[in-house]
Amino acid sequence: MTAIAGKRIWLTGASSGIGLSLAEQLAAAGAELILSARRESLLNDLQQRLPHSERHRVLALDLSDPEQALVTAQAAQLGQIDILINNAGVSQRSWVIDTELAVYRQLMEVDYLAVVALTKWVLPEMLARGEGHIVTVSSVAGKVGTKLRSGYAGAKYAVLGFMDCLRAEVSQQGVVCSSILPGFINTQVAHNALTGDGSQRGRADGDNASGMSADACAKQIIAAIQHNRDEVVIAKGMSKLAPLLQRFMPGTLRRIMAKRAVD
Ligand SMILES: NC(=O)c1ccc[n+]([C@@H]2O[C@H](COP(=O)([O-])OP(=O)(O)OC[C@H]3O[C@@H](n4cnc5c(N)ncnc54)[C@H](OP(=O)(O)O)[C@@H]3O)[C@@H](O)[C@H]2O)c1
Repeated sequence: MTAIAGKRIWLTGASSGIGLSLAEQLAAAGAELILSARRESLLNDLQQRLPHSERHRVLALDLSDPEQALVTAQAAQLGQIDILINNAGVSQRSWVIDTELAVYRQLMEVDYLAVVALTKWVLPEMLARGEGHIVTVSSVAGKVGTKLRSGYAGAKYAVLGFMDCLRAEVSQQGVVCSSILPGFINTQVAHNALTGDGSQRGRADGDNASGMSADACAKQIIAAIQHNRDEVVIAKGMSKLAPLLQRFMPGTLRRIMAKRAVD
C-alpha cells in the first residue's frame, strides 16, 4: 500500500469540487501539496486553511493553454513530484449540431492536452528515480457516450487511451498510472460546463446535484492511489451500472442512452 504522508503531490483543479476535497483529505493525511487552478485567491485561502499550511504551495495555472502552463510551472521550480493528480476539468452541455469547433478545441486543451503536457513534464524525473504515480481523473463519460457531452466525452475517452498507453510503457519502470472514472458527483461541474458558444452553462443539473458527495469521491480516489489501482469507477446508481452495460450489453445501453431525457 502506498503511503500518502510525506508525499509531494501536484493537484490540479484544487479550487473547487473533487479537487478541493482531495486537497483537504490529502493534507490531513500528511501530504505536501502543490495546489493548481486558475482562481489564485481561492487557492491561497485553501492553503491557509490546510493543516501545516507552510508545507503547501499555490501555483495558479490556466490549463486551456498547456504550453503557457508549462512555462509557468518551469519558472516555479517545483522540485520532485511524487504524485501528479490531473483532476482539473471542464464539462459540456450542448448538442453536437449547436456546438462551435472552438468549444471542442477548448475541451480537448483542458481535459486532454493539459493532462498530456503535465504528465510528460513530470515523467522524466519519475523514470530517473524509478518511482512515481500519475493519477488522471477521467469520467464515466470516458466510457459511455451520452447526449450533450460529445466534446467532453471525446476528451475523457482520449485521456483514458493516453493513460492505458502510458501504463504499458512505464509500469515496469516503477511509475504507477491510475485512471479515475467518477459518475455523477455533486460539484460545480454542470454549472461550469461549456455550452455550444463557449459560454458557461451557469446552472446545476439534477443528475450532479443528486450525485455522490465530493468528499466521498475524494476518499475513494485516495484509496485507489494507496492501492495502486489501474482504473476505478466511483459512482452509484445508473452511472455505476453504465460502464458494465457498455462492456457486456452495449446495444441495451445505447438504446437507454438514446431514450434518456436530459435537462
Ligand atoms: N462532478 C462530476 O459529476 C464529475 C464526473 C466525472 C468526472 N468529473 C471530473 O472531475 C474533475 C473535477 O471536476 P469537479 O466535478 O470537481 O468540477 P468543478 O467543481 O467545476 O471543478 C473543476 C476544477 O477544475 C479547474 N479548472 C477548470 N478549468 C481550468 C483551467 N482552464 N485551468 C486550470 N484549472 C481549471 C477549476 O478551477 P478554476 O476554475 O479555479 O480554474 C476547478 O478547480 C474534472 O476533471 C471533471 O471532468 C466530474
